[in-house]
Amino acid sequence: MSNDAKQSSDSSTSAKRAPACTLVIFGAAGDLTKRLLMPALYNLSAQGLLDDDMQIIGVNHGERETAQWRDELTQALRKFAADKASTFHTSELNEDAWNRIAQKLEYFSGEFAEDETFTRLKERLAQQKSGNVVFYLAVSARFFAPIAERLGRTGLLEQKDGAFRRIVIEKPFGTDLASAKELNRCILAHADESQVYRIDHFLGKDTVQSILAVRFANAMFEPVWRREYIDHVQITAAETIGVEGRGSFYEQTGAFRDMLPNHLFQLLGMVAMEPPNSFDAESVRDKKADVFDAIKPLTANDVVLGQYEAGPAGRAYRDEPGVAKDSRTETYAAARVYVENWRWAGVPFYLRTGKRLTERRTEISVQLKAVPFRLFRDTPVDALTPNVYTLRIDPAHGTSFDFNVKIPGPLMQVGAVRSAFDYSDFFAASANVGYETLLYDCMLGDPTLFQRADSIETAWAAVDRVLHPDAELPVHGYASGSAGPEAADQLLAADGRAWRPLTDAIVKK
Ligand code: BG6
Repeated sequence: MSNDAKQSSDSSTSAKRAPACTLVIFGAAGDLTKRLLMPALYNLSAQGLLDDDMQIIGVNHGERETAQWRDELTQALRKFAADKASTFHTSELNEDAWNRIAQKLEYFSGEFAEDETFTRLKERLAQQKSGNVVFYLAVSARFFAPIAERLGRTGLLEQKDGAFRRIVIEKPFGTDLASAKELNRCILAHADESQVYRIDHFLGKDTVQSILAVRFANAMFEPVWRREYIDHVQITAAETIGVEGRGSFYEQTGAFRDMLPNHLFQLLGMVAMEPPNSFDAESVRDKKADVFDAIKPLTANDVVLGQYEAGPAGRAYRDEPGVAKDSRTETYAAARVYVENWRWAGVPFYLRTGKRLTERRTEISVQLKAVPFRLFRDTPVDALTPNVYTLRIDPAHGTSFDFNVKIPGPLMQVGAVRSAFDYSDFFAASANVGYETLLYDCMLGDPTLFQRADSIETAWAAVDRVLHPDAELPVHGYASGSAGPEAADQLLAADGRAWRPLTDAIVKK
């Protein structure tokens, strides 16, 4: 997200091409490669941002000819392009643009945890011209350490003659503080921090990157963006989908680990960080690290967990394939978080996420304090709707501001209205599945949007106490298709507050 790179989202003509490199994808046959990496590479190629000499080597266990892998990916991309619900939906796949990617593809059969795969890979990569390689670990988390170790031992992470070697790690990065530390230790034994790109795909979203633009490119927000004016902040990632065939993964993970110390904390970091001195990667990451460092460790009183039961949106979680009949895994998590620093002391950040909720909605609502004085005769101050500034991340892309105006008529009465901005009203939709900027930035060597080892660890440290069995958090039921468990409402009610409705509260009359 350097200034240079950032222009790519505004005007691809002014963005420079990524340098020539070989992208080695571990997990060539996996879902992430098909659904997100290939569509993103296709979009980057269509925008002219990939070097002609770039190569893509897909590593996976199981024998396959390159032609067969290309074929599988071509079918998958055609399917996604035709699917209206897919972020890759286009009127038709541009076969020329896809062929430019397809001819770069090479399948490489090998087990992820066998040394022999890496010695062969080394021989293969020795034939490559630029020496630049990005190793992308699009694999199950249990392979992160074994792959990183073998890449290191085989010398594949050594940077020589000005060429770069980088390693991209997907989430989940650990399952608690101890495991995240161990994974960092293992990776950093073989690579320098500057070579490691830990992905949180929320940071690939334009609407998330725009939080910094909204805050720091406009004069009106910063003066009120502090405890004196802000009552509290709500960060919501509500989903209507269930576990989508990922029951056995989800059983081990749960909503809290899946979303909270990573995606929701990243949003919190963007909202709460101090202005950086520049958009230089380390300046931005330092300021975000300060936020995670200031989070007061969560206790059981700050957290509510829930699990969906049968309801209007379908069957119970416990009836999903791969899920235990007596599962205690949460599909909903809410938390009250305090950032203990000068700017935010005493301002709660309420975070919530859940599957099978009423509506899909990822947003951040910043609620300002009430006005101090009862001036309007027929509208008591406590009946006035507070000012709320909402950053809409998904599926709506934009912002809205709730404020009060005089209701037309002879009486001086005040009513709430909403002023809203939607990206589509101002900008042409750009082809984007959310991984374009991340892949492009990694090839350019810009780590701004990636997580640093220290931030990963401070984020886990903030939640570690509630993750362990002795925390014994109850898991409350909620009907599938509802807004979540009642206990989550009580979490806010105890502070005299309420969650923003998942469906729009202000409607035009
Ligand atoms: C993933 C989680 O990281 O993020 C999923 O593992 C979740 O459970 C997804 O559905 C949400 O991402 P998005 O971009 O669809 O909001």
